[in-house]
Order: sequence, then structure tokens, then C-alpha cells
Amino acid sequence: MFLVRLVYTSEITEGVTESDIQNILDKARKKNTALHVTGVLLFSRKYFLQCLEGSREQVNKVYHHILNDNRHKDVVLLDYSEVNEREFADWSMGYIPEMEITRPITLKYSESASFEPYSMSGSSAHNLLTSLTKAINVV
Ligand SMILES: Cc1cc2nc3c(=O)[nH]c(=O)nc-3n(C[C@H](O)[C@H](O)[C@H](O)COP(=O)(O)O)c2cc1C
Repeated sequence: MFLVRLVYTSEITEGVTESDIQNILDKARKKNTALHVTGVLLFSRKYFLQCLEGSREQVNKVYHHILNDNRHKDVVLLDYSEVNEREFADWSMGYIPEMEITRPITLKYSESASFEPYSMSGSSAHNLLTSLTKAINVV
């Protein structure tokens, strides 16, 4: 099965904490490893921006779980593409926390230096994630 890349944004639900995000990551990394899904998750201000890559079947499956997760809301699909290779193959789910997001990199892909993922094109959102993973030490 060929590869796809999916990028979405969402807003964190009120009351969801840092430790909930850590739980999301722990679970995501285990499940993604088993499904050969890779990607990165960014959290900034109150927004998530996530890229998932892998087989169409597995990426779609994971996305359906994510859509039904009440720890976030207003999930908007920004990009869904067939791709020839993975860009985040080193991460079952890399995490980019708020403090690592620099204003110059945000400005490069947005109309202002403020992170507003709902106003971004799919391609800018994807390029922002790629640039950040090159610029910082993603775990
Ligand atoms: C912002 C966010 C990102 C998530 N990312 C992933 C992910 O990459 N992979 C995954 O399996 N689950 C992810 N989840 C968790 C799923 O929504 C869901 O809780 C999990 O897949 C459920 O697994 P289970 O039904 O096997 O317990 C994410 C949830 C949120 C809120």
C-alpha cells in the first residue's frame, strides 16, 4: 500500500493539562509504532497541529480515533496527500512543545508571527512542521 500524509489542526478542550498531553503521546507512540505510522505533534497556545504519515489504511484508522477524542475539538483537516516518502520517519510521534516554536519560523509560513493554524494552508502547515523538526531537537 502506498504512503499518505495527513495534516490537521484542532483546539485543546478546556481542562486538558500537560500531563494529559503526555498520556496522549505515550499511547500514540505505542499504537503508531505497531501500525508503522510516523509523524509529529505540535502544541502551541491552545492549538494542536499534527502530521501523520503511513499507509492510507492505517493513517485513516488513526485519524478516525483522533476525530472522536474529546481531549480536543474543532478538528479541521488541512492536508491529505499521497506521498513517495516519509518526512518524519524517525518519530513514531515527535513532539514540538510551545517553547520550541520560534516567531521567525512561524512568520515564514503565516501572515503574522502569531501561530494561527486555522488560517494556514495545508502546505504551509506541513512546511512549518518540517522546518521546525530541522531547526530543533525533537524528541
Ligand atoms: C491531539 C491528539 C493527537 C493524537 N495522536 C494520536 C496518534 O498519533 N496515534 C494514536 O494512535 N492516537 C492518537 N491520539 C489518541 C487517539 O485519539 C485515541 O485516544 C487512541 O488512539 C485510542 O486508542 P485505543 O482506542 O486503542 O485506546 C491522539 C489524540 C489527540 C487528542
